[in-house]
Amino acid sequence: MFKNSNIYIAIIAIFTIAIYSCRTDKPSEQLPIYEITKTMVDDSAMVVSAHPIASQAGHDIMRDGGNAVDAAISVQFTLAVCYPIAGNIGGGGFLVYRDADGTTNTLDYREMAPAAAFDNMYLDEKGDPIAEKSQNGGLAVGVPGTVAGMYAAFEKYSKLKDWKKLIAPAIDAAENGFKLTHRQAMLMNKNKAKFDKYNTDPIVFTSREWRGGDLLVQPKLATTLKLISENGPKGFYEGIVADQIVNQMKKSGGIITHADLKNYTAKWRKPITFDYRGHNIISMPPPSSGGIALAQIFGMVENYDLKSMVYHSKEHLHLVAEAERRAFADRATHLGDSDFYNVPISGLVDKAYLEERMSDFDLEKTEGSENTEAGDAKESLETTHFSIVDVEGNAVSMTTTLNGGYGSKLVVAEAGFLLNNEMDDFSAKPGTPNMFGLIGAEANKIEPGKRMLSSMTPTIVEKDGKLLLVCGTPGGSTIITSVFQAVSNVIDFDMTATEAVQSPRFHHQWLPDVLILEEVGFDSTLITDLNEMGHHAKFRGKLGKVEAIKALANGDLEGAADIRADDDVKGF
Ligand code: DON
Repeated sequence: MFKNSNIYIAIIAIFTIAIYSCRTDKPSEQLPIYEITKTMVDDSAMVVSAHPIASQAGHDIMRDGGNAVDAAISVQFTLAVCYPIAGNIGGGGFLVYRDADGTTNTLDYREMAPAAAFDNMYLDEKGDPIAEKSQNGGLAVGVPGTVAGMYAAFEKYSKLKDWKKLIAPAIDAAENGFKLTHRQAMLMNKNKAKFDKYNTDPIVFTSREWRGGDLLVQPKLATTLKLISENGPKGFYEGIVADQIVNQMKKSGGIITHADLKNYTAKWRKPITFDYRGHNIISMPPPSSGGIALAQIFGMVENYDLKSMVYHSKEHLHLVAEAERRAFADRATHLGDSDFYNVPISGLVDKAYLEERMSDFDLEKTEGSENTEAGDAKESLETTHFSIVDVEGNAVSMTTTLNGGYGSKLVVAEAGFLLNNEMDDFSAKPGTPNMFGLIGAEANKIEPGKRMLSSMTPTIVEKDGKLLLVCGTPGGSTIITSVFQAVSNVIDFDMTATEAVQSPRFHHQWLPDVLILEEVGFDSTLITDLNEMGHHAKFRGKLGKVEAIKALANGDLEGAADIRADDDVKGF
């Protein structure tokens, strides 16, 4: 039940509507296709995701007695249908879990390099990376982890114990269709040329010029989902669908084999946990860089009195940017799949090390990054995050992706789903930036069976042994810094979830040596001030799409869906 009596909700609702109306890029004549809720408080359970149909699926599963993991599985499969730009069965992701008693766990269902992959596979004769090959078409595809991951989560934590029920909303949306939002129609049309370039067979996404409200029906995907529903992971990694994937690989220059598919395994991993001003923060370990980088940034700012700084003053941005610069420099050298490379985790998050790392920090100016030759990170919001809390207080924070928007752009034609381009997250050549401008080294070089380094940072925060916040976001390299800000906004600046999510964001990633500020919400004098301190500050469109749930002191849950797109919160 929505608590209308709560004055503070009225305030945040006005705050949200005010920002939404000035920030949204939705033309005013377009009527909304769905009723979308950006902020709500309720007392039992909540789900926040990138699409209202997926939020509804998670909501309904919990209404029917499912727990947060049941809901998460259902949301993941539903997003594969109704949010094809990033939702997936042809990609991978990470799940961070905290049960109501405070026990935590993480699931790594990240893609793996195929057995035939090798370190120089994307280099030309001169030894230069060919971005086209790691970013589009068959060779860009890592072995998908999503279906194995969802089944692993189901086996360990499902309360409903009814796999078919969890996939049913996705099958329904694929078979009977769902209405595209205006944004979805626009993005699908915009990508037509790329779809045409990388697909030889007709695909549903280019079957017409799309408009908001059009029904997208995906019969082939429905058949694939039914096979997964009936046979579990074998319905994807073996049999008909595996044949279809391998056939597509052969047609499109890919190297994934039946053996690669059969050998895929999702892995449970010990979370990265760290203390920040009396809060326990739980996040994703390698092959994500997210948890370690988050621990580093928090560890580096902890010795400064953030609370006393004016929010979004030049002092605030300067301090955080300098911590981010140092964390991303460490990321480039030290981080990769810890099953293949000895990542010095405890050293990197050691408080004394982080204090030392800031020993040359100057409150007045920056020395910059030594080398500014790296390429610019591309703007992309096409991963997706969802946050869920169930009636018992179990929480799931989950980020999943195809990497770029619509991944490799390649559809398994007979099976109706998109394949990822996650291989670009490896370091194709030490010191050369990937599509997010990120630099890597030996730690993240391509090796058969290895998982590519990620920035995805699904995160849960607890205080005094109780759940406080569940959050995460898409955004490539900007994921880490967006999650940092959402959490810091709550801990350091006492914000509601809604304020924390909807506030403007900024980002620094060491290389390129640029401090990016969101276009809407910051004054241009701030850019001038920061540049006088030695930064290279500039505006960029949007950073991240954070989905958050905050557990309030009275036991209620506050959900906040990012105003930057069609994201939606549902609860009861
Ligand atoms: O795992 C990673 O860090 C990237 N593949 C995530 C890509 C992403 O977030 C794209 N855009 N939002």
